[in-house]
Amino acid sequence: MTHLPSLLLLGAGGQLGRALHERLAHAFAVDAPPRAELDVLDAPALERAVLAKSPAILVNATAFGVQETERDPHTGFRVNALAPLALARAAEAAGALLVHFSTDFVFDGTLNRPYREDDLPAPLSLYGHAKLAGELAALSSPRAYVFRVESLFGGGRAHGSIDGLVAKLRRGETPRVFTDRVLTPTYVVDAAEAIARVLTLRPPPGLYHLTNAGEATFLEVLEEAARLLALPQRFEAVSQSSANLAPPRPLRTPLNGDRLASLGLGLPHWRDALARSCASALEYERKRNMMASCHPSFPPSPP
Ligand SMILES: NC(=O)c1ccc[n+]([C@@H]2O[C@H](COP(=O)([O-])OP(=O)(O)OC[C@H]3O[C@@H](n4cnc5c(N)ncnc54)[C@H](OP(=O)(O)O)[C@@H]3O)[C@@H](O)[C@H]2O)c1
Repeated sequence: MTHLPSLLLLGAGGQLGRALHERLAHAFAVDAPPRAELDVLDAPALERAVLAKSPAILVNATAFGVQETERDPHTGFRVNALAPLALARAAEAAGALLVHFSTDFVFDGTLNRPYREDDLPAPLSLYGHAKLAGELAALSSPRAYVFRVESLFGGGRAHGSIDGLVAKLRRGETPRVFTDRVLTPTYVVDAAEAIARVLTLRPPPGLYHLTNAGEATFLEVLEEAARLLALPQRFEAVSQSSANLAPPRPLRTPLNGDRLASLGLGLPHWRDALARSCASALEYERKRNMMASCHPSFPPSPP
């Protein structure tokens, strides 16, 4: 029997974590303890637990979100900054590779071109500050990869902003969509594939932007999703600049993915990714409807 390298995955129940679990299980012996078994809030205990498990690879897909961090900054900094520090220390001590994820929210969104990895961060929110601290903490290990992702969509646990707005369309609602928010969305399936390839090819560790290629406004992404899913193009188009969001969000944060692309690890264009994600959602729906018609008691689940 082939001996697969051991990989400890934290946050496997999340949107990105689920896609990572599914993909990485093909090439690694994945241990994915739920939060109840391994809570990242207690940094010293986390460090001890990781050292005891001593995996070859450590992947951290845990998250404490923008609104949550605003409401509870203490927990936000523990999950988003102190946990990566504990993981970096444990990775160092165990000689493990560390994979950690960050966000476009480390930038203020005022640059008039896509952000590169070496552009100066300037977070607007406590979440952005905590994630930036988490990046630096993770990178204190010379064996760490930090990937900035942006506006995740697709996968089994679809709850990001793009999927949330599509779900509203499906329910016949008229979602409020920003016309001036510019982004590069990230299909979790593509991100997971890229991580699997990184772990095989082992490019130099460090900071990378990991999003699909291209850029778009939120409205363009939603219009394309509606077209692909044959849903009505019914949006309340509003401008983010005049929405007075609290905490403030950056307006323009397309991420430049040239660093990964130059290693042959670039992701497909977001339109291609969205087409595959929508096709997979439609296929899931078709199978669910078929099951429901064969087994009338089959519980219909939300899209
Ligand atoms: N979503 C986006 O659009 C987006 C954008 C930019 C960057 N990111 C980054 O991408 C990464 C993944 O985000 P995501 O959206 O996939 O996250 P998510 O869906 O919110 O999932 C977060 C995961 O972290 C786990 N978790 C939270 N607190 C924990 C704790 N104290 N101990 C152990 N596990 C804990 C959750 O456990 P439960 O399953 O028990 O809840 C869940 O499995 C994060 O680094 C995030 O900052 C996300």
